[in-house]
Amino acid sequence: MPDTARPWVLITGCSSGIGKALVSVCRAAGWGVVATARRPADLAELSAGEDLRTLNLDVTSAESIALGVRACADLRLVALINNAGYGQMGPLEFIRPEELRAQFETNVVGLHAVTNAFLPLIRKHATQGEGRIVQVASMLGRLSIPLAGPYNASKHAVVALAETLRLEIGREIHVVLVEPGAVASSFRTTIARSWGDLPQRIQGTRYERILAGFMKTREKQAEHFAGSPEQAARCILKALTRKRPPRRILIRPEARLAGWAKAVMPAALWEWLLRRSYGLH
Ligand SMILES: NC(=O)c1ccc[n+]([C@@H]2O[C@H](COP(=O)([O-])OP(=O)(O)OC[C@H]3O[C@@H](n4cnc5c(N)ncnc54)[C@H](OP(=O)(O)O)[C@@H]3O)[C@@H](O)[C@H]2O)c1
Repeated sequence: MPDTARPWVLITGCSSGIGKALVSVCRAAGWGVVATARRPADLAELSAGEDLRTLNLDVTSAESIALGVRACADLRLVALINNAGYGQMGPLEFIRPEELRAQFETNVVGLHAVTNAFLPLIRKHATQGEGRIVQVASMLGRLSIPLAGPYNASKHAVVALAETLRLEIGREIHVVLVEPGAVASSFRTTIARSWGDLPQRIQGTRYERILAGFMKTREKQAEHFAGSPEQAARCILKALTRKRPPRRILIRPEARLAGWAKAVMPAALWEWLLRRSYGLH
């Protein structure tokens, strides 16, 4: 199929996890995929083909985004999946402003910058009802857990951006919000990396014990609840293939359950449960 006929989707953050799985799932469904990552080496193992283009793209770099747009000018790009993101965790009273800023720079400002940069291409190529912008938020975009303040805040912001964008352009281009629960990916390894010197900063405070328990709790939750990136990718594919895609795609039953529990439980009980599960009682 010539590239002028094939619909193409650009995906951010394809070096691992959900983004990587999305590349094969979308290709298998007949899409041309522009797989992007910060380091070219991370995309080297993808099998080459007429339906694949790989690009370096760091969502925090305006230059990198502009180069990406130029590199897609010859494709019939009709969809974008803003998947790139990471989790900056830690007790809020020990989070430096620059850590919060960096979290927003990637998860929020980066997602917005990529959306705006590729929107004209999608507008140009998509037929009526074909265009898709898929914003990957999280279950933590609707509710907050302790010790994840920067991440909670960034994903709440992604939800707000997606809902606003849908009101503004949703009749022309479908805007789909993805809200995953736990998915087994590199996400938890990256959490420990983005902590930096936080473990030293909290030495001698009540958080020393609590933070050690935090990772254990997350690991335990992941073991019990986490789905595979492939399963998440197959759910997200609906955003591209359905004639009328859903407004929200919740991935994993616990994402739905937690949202429901927060809505029906008295706030004091909800907070008690969260403090208890994270060792803050
Ligand atoms: N895993 C979960 O439990 C879970 C739950 C809810 C929501 N999510 C969301 O799902 C999305 C994918 O996460 P994942 O679980 O697949 O985790 P992952 O395996 O850690 O993948 C995250 C991807 O984002 C990329 N990324 C980070 N900063 C970037 C930047 N500045 N520019 C471009 N790419 C960047 C990473 O690239 P590098 O390799 O270069 O760092 C990686 O490819 C994220 O938005 C995450 O918040 C995940």
